Amino acid sequence: MGLLNNKTAIVTGAARGIGKAIALELAKEGANIAFTDIVEDDNFKSTEKELNDIGIKAKGYVSDASNFEQSQTLIDTIIKDFGAVHVLVNNAGITRDNLLMRMTEDQWDLVLKVNLKSAFNMTKAASRPMMKQREGSIINVSSVVGVGGNAGQANYSASKAGMIGFTKSIAKELGSRNIRCNAVAPGFIMTAMTDQLPDEVKEGWYEKIPLRRGGTPEEVAKVILFLASDLSSYVSGQVINICGAMQT
Ligand code: NAI
Repeated sequence: MGLLNNKTAIVTGAARGIGKAIALELAKEGANIAFTDIVEDDNFKSTEKELNDIGIKAKGYVSDASNFEQSQTLIDTIIKDFGAVHVLVNNAGITRDNLLMRMTEDQWDLVLKVNLKSAFNMTKAASRPMMKQREGSIINVSSVVGVGGNAGQANYSASKAGMIGFTKSIAKELGSRNIRCNAVAPGFIMTAMTDQLPDEVKEGWYEKIPLRRGGTPEEVAKVILFLASDLSSYVSGQVINICGAMQT
């Protein structure tokens, strides 16, 4: 008996990286998975196949989470295809790092739109069926940088801090409908996003992490499984750092 049997979970930006690990973890516990990404590339297709191979129902959708109309249409389509939505994981995110002095307006706007507005778009669209069901768990993938800030990432940090305020407000607003909303704040997780950093930058991060290593996408996914399932039925409006004690 899986923790999420007969549940439907949506994970945005799940063709690769942390999103893919989340989709696989929830699927292994019996959830049917609707995942999104912006292009139907090889990653997208192999994620869809790996999920279906687990034996649950899985389907990938090309949809830009930062686009309001596309998010509404997406949820309508998923409801037609799957019948319900019990779990929403707002994972899609990007970085456009720069020092404030050099940061362009476009870099600011894009990061806020993709990271923060997408959580609003998807949560607003999914909250309607969740309210009707009187059941839902929404999980926003923030970052330790949203909790503690980081030089060179003012746009990213602001977007991730915004997700935390959004999470707490939604938890208070929708709690009476039995909808929970939590955030996770991963630290340094080894994915394509962090792979592009020079080795000396990575070493610098490891020195700041008491567990002396980066985390894996699977380690993030296990905390999300906890928040998605009834294991956390009385946990809402919280932020869980997943960072090897980097942020305490
Ligand atoms: P990644 O870049 O490997 O994967 C992100 C996925 O989101 C990609 O497949 C991308 O195509 C998709 N995506 C981008 N914009 C999208 C949009 N508008 N609509 C739908 N999908 C979109 O990144 P990673 O490392 O897996 O990160 C996942 C989430 O975790 C992000 O929100 C990131 O900010 C967050 N995070 C990552 C950390 C890390 O160390 N890797 C640390 C803390 C948070």
